[in-house]
Amino acid sequence: LDAGTPQYMTSDPTSFASNSVRQRWPIIIVRGAVMVSTPDEPRLLTRPPRQTGAVDDVYRAVSKTHDPEKQAEGKKIIEQLGNLKYEVQHDRKLSPIADDGYPDEVAAYNKEIADLGNPSWLHVPWLFSECYMYRRISSFFQPTKHWKNYDVFARQKTDSFRGSRNAVLELASRYKELVEQLRADKDVTHDDEAEKLLFAEFFDICLWGNATDLSLLTSLTYEDIQQLQGSAARKAAEKNILVNDLPASYEILHKARAEGQKERRVDFVLDNAGFELYVDLALAGFLLSSGLATQVILRPKSIPWFVSDVLPGDFSALLNAISNPKAFFETQTEDEQLQGKTPEPVSDKEVQDLVFVFQEWANLHVEGRLIMRPNRYWTAGGSFWRLPHQAPELYEDLRGAELVIFKGDLNYRKLTGDARWDPTTPFQEALGPMGKGSGVNVLSLRTCKADVVVGLPAGKDEELKKTEGGGGDSGARTWAWHGKWAVVCLSQRS
Ligand code: F6P
Ligand code: MG
Repeated sequence: LDAGTPQYMTSDPTSFASNSVRQRWPIIIVRGAVMVSTPDEPRLLTRPPRQTGAVDDVYRAVSKTHDPEKQAEGKKIIEQLGNLKYEVQHDRKLSPIADDGYPDEVAAYNKEIADLGNPSWLHVPWLFSECYMYRRISSFFQPTKHWKNYDVFARQKTDSFRGSRNAVLELASRYKELVEQLRADKDVTHDDEAEKLLFAEFFDICLWGNATDLSLLTSLTYEDIQQLQGSAARKAAEKNILVNDLPASYEILHKARAEGQKERRVDFVLDNAGFELYVDLALAGFLLSSGLATQVILRPKSIPWFVSDVLPGDFSALLNAISNPKAFFETQTEDEQLQGKTPEPVSDKEVQDLVFVFQEWANLHVEGRLIMRPNRYWTAGGSFWRLPHQAPELYEDLRGAELVIFKGDLNYRKLTGDARWDPTTPFQEALGPMGKGSGVNVLSLRTCKADVVVGLPAGKDEELKKTEGGGGDSGARTWAWHGKWAVVCLSQRS
C-alpha cells in the first residue's frame, strides 16, 4: 500500500520531524506546563491571545462559561491535552485512541500503531504521528456534550485572517477589476493570451497563499506573514518556484472547453483557512467566471487539523466576514484591547470591493457551482498511496474532475508518502497509485515546509543546500522547511 522508500522519522535529527516533535508540537498543544498544573491561574488571560495553544484556548472558553457541566467537561479536556503534551515530551508510546463515535476510524489509527510495533513519539514516522496527534486531540472533544463541535483553533484562524487585512483588501480590488475585465472581454472577442496570463496570476496568488499557515506560527511572526502576502512579495518570489507545470495544467482545462465538454469540474483538496481559503476562492471564482471550469468542489477537513486547515464552518465564517468588512475589520480584538490599539477604518472603496467579491462567491455558491464536499478520509493517518484502496468512493468521485488541485505542504507529503525519495524522482512516480493510470489529473500547489521533495532537476537540491540556511553538509534539507521555495507539479491521469 505504501511507497517502498522509507519515510521521514521523528528520530532523525536531520529531519524537520525532529524539530517538530520536540519544539513545535508541545507549543501547539499548550504553552507552558504551568498552565496545565494550575488552570485557575488568571495570568493566562493576559497573554497575547495570538500565541496561544489548544490548552490556552479551552481554558479561556472554560473561564467564560457559567455552565458547570460545560466547565467540568472543559477541565477534563485540558487535563487530557496536558497528558498528551507530557507523553510527547517524555517520549511515551503513542497510546490507542479511545472510541469517540467513529469506531472504524479509531480502529484504523490503532491498527497502524500496532503495525508500527507500538512506537514512541521520538521514534515514529513523522506523517503518521502528526496526523495521530490531531486525531487524538479531536477524540477529547468529540464524546462531550458541550464541546463536540468546538474548533480549538478557530480563534487563531479568525485572528490571522483579520491580520491579513492589507493583502485581503489589495486582492479584492484586483479581483473586481479582473472579473469585470473578463466579462467585458467575453462580450467582445475571447482573448486566449490574456486569459492565460490571468490564469498564471491567480495560480501564483493561490500558491503563495500557502506560505502562511498557522502551524508554522511557532517560528514566524505575524509581521513575517503579512510581508509574505502582498503582491510585491509574490513578484519577488517568482524565481523561487522550482518546478512549474502550470502551462500544462492550463492546457487541460482549455482543451476540455474547446472540445465542448459540458461538465468541467475542478476540485480543490483544501489546506488552510483564512487568507489561503480566501485566495483559493479567488482562483475558483476566476476559473468559473472565465468558463475554464463549470463547477468547483471544495474539499475541507472534518476535524480541527494541523491548526489552520479549513473546516466547513470556516467557509461560512469567511463569507460572513467579507459581507460586512467594517464589522469584521474595525471591531477591536482582545489583543488590540490589551495593547490599547484601535483598528484603522476601512474606506468606502474597500468596502465596495470586498462586498463585490462576497456577492460573486455567494452567488456561485447559491447556484451550486461552488460547493463544499467534506469527507472524513482527509483526516485519516496514512498517505494517499492508500486512497484508491481505502476510500474507493472518494477515489471515484475525484476521477470525475478535470483537475484536482491539492493545496499545501501536508497534501504534498501525503501524495508522495512523505518518503525519502531522491529529489530527482519524477513527481508522477512518487505518487504511486495516485499517479500514472489513476484517472486523476493531480496538480499540487505547495510551498515547501518539510523534507520531502521530488521532481527537481539534477543538481538543484545540492545547489539549494549550499545557499545560506540551506543545510550545507549537515545532511538536513533546511532550505525546504520554511515556505520560501515552492513547487507546482502536475501528474496527468493516463
Ligand atoms: O512542516 C511544518 C508543517 O506544519 C507540517 O507539520 C505540515 O506538513 C505542514 O507544515 C502544514 O502545512 P500546510 O498547511 O501547507 O499543509
Ligand atoms: Mg495546513
